[in-house]
Amino acid sequence: MNIDPAQVDVVLATTRAVRKRLDLDRPVDNQLLLDCIDLAEQAPTGGNLGSRRWIVVRDRAVKERLAEVYRDTAGSFMASTAARLRGTGHPQEKVMASASYLVDHLAEVPAIVIPTIIGRHDGGSRPGLFDSVVQAAWSFCLALRARGLGSTWVTAALQDEARVKEILGIPAHMTEIVLLPVAWTKGTEFKRAPRLPAREITYFDRFGVTSQEGPGESLSFADGPGIIAEVDIDAPLASVWALVADINVPGRFSSEFLGAEWAGDERGVGAVFHGRNQHSAIGEWTVPCFVDTFDEGRAFGWRTSDPERPGARWKFELDASVGRTRLRFSYVIGPGRSGTSRAVEMNPDKEARVLRRRLGEVQANMERTVQGIKSLAETT
Ligand SMILES: Cc1cc2nc3c(=O)[nH]c(=O)nc-3n(C[C@H](O)[C@H](O)[C@H](O)COP(=O)(O)O)c2cc1C
Repeated sequence: MNIDPAQVDVVLATTRAVRKRLDLDRPVDNQLLLDCIDLAEQAPTGGNLGSRRWIVVRDRAVKERLAEVYRDTAGSFMASTAARLRGTGHPQEKVMASASYLVDHLAEVPAIVIPTIIGRHDGGSRPGLFDSVVQAAWSFCLALRARGLGSTWVTAALQDEARVKEILGIPAHMTEIVLLPVAWTKGTEFKRAPRLPAREITYFDRFGVTSQEGPGESLSFADGPGIIAEVDIDAPLASVWALVADINVPGRFSSEFLGAEWAGDERGVGAVFHGRNQHSAIGEWTVPCFVDTFDEGRAFGWRTSDPERPGARWKFELDASVGRTRLRFSYVIGPGRSGTSRAVEMNPDKEARVLRRRLGEVQANMERTVQGIKSLAETT
């Protein structure tokens, strides 16, 4: 059998949270929902046990009662957040406006589907029992999308578990996973969501270790190995940015980087600073750093030694869309010459070992740096 990956990819990439584009007037056939549940039941389940039970709500009076629960658990928060963000261009502005719309119209959707599982999510259950349902619920959403229907992954309405259980007569030994409003979608074109590229969030063989190319079976200089150190900070973006944009802050935490001086008055892309470093095996040295990224409040990056063929590339990135300020500090070795490239040249048969060791040293310093910035930002 030939599967057309392009079609499958469209479904995987564009199954969005649909709220305002749910068609509240077009009836949905029960068999269509059951077909999607049959497909969803093909998802893996711990111990191969069929412990999922699905509730399809069609009765308007029951939908009204669920909508009331949703209004009580999330309605005022969503409406007030939507009002506060309106016109601000905030990353959550559209989501909150759309979420608030769904709260107001939940009772009007043709069907509400609630996947449940036999068992309690209390850690005392059979291994994998609870985790056997999320993948099936998502398969259900994908099957809907493939047929021109849509949904939104709603959990807030389930916060008042007692009321949901009472309304639907769900026994205490069951766990409800998600509430899925289901309708035909108005139009079938949906966009991919902005997400970080896989290369930036995928670590090879060890947490935090990235690779620009490959990698093959072992670490290689040519692959552009690197490190990501990341931390969530309970402080406003502006205070974290002030620390990140100060080239002397990392020197307070790193055992290798001592400090730096700007080469002139210029700041931003094209500016140059000189970083002073020390290492027990090498002694002290200074390296010119060429700013290649300067996006106020978002990103600050530089390349070392040679802007065309850098010895390494470093970057701080900030993201406040996660509710807190997420700081990502990244490092990529090469492709130009550096202490690391020389060590690799001198020990060609130990390339992977040299790189592993170097990455370990850098990772430890980067972790100390992001943790240091976190504690400074959270205490000042
Ligand atoms: C765990 C989880 C809980 C969610 N809870 C809600 C919810 O209660 N109400 C809602 O409208 N959307 C909810 N969503 C949907 C997200 O808000 C949605 O993914 C977001 O708007 C981004 O849209 P996208 O999935 O199309 O990229 C939830 C999503 C997840 C993964």
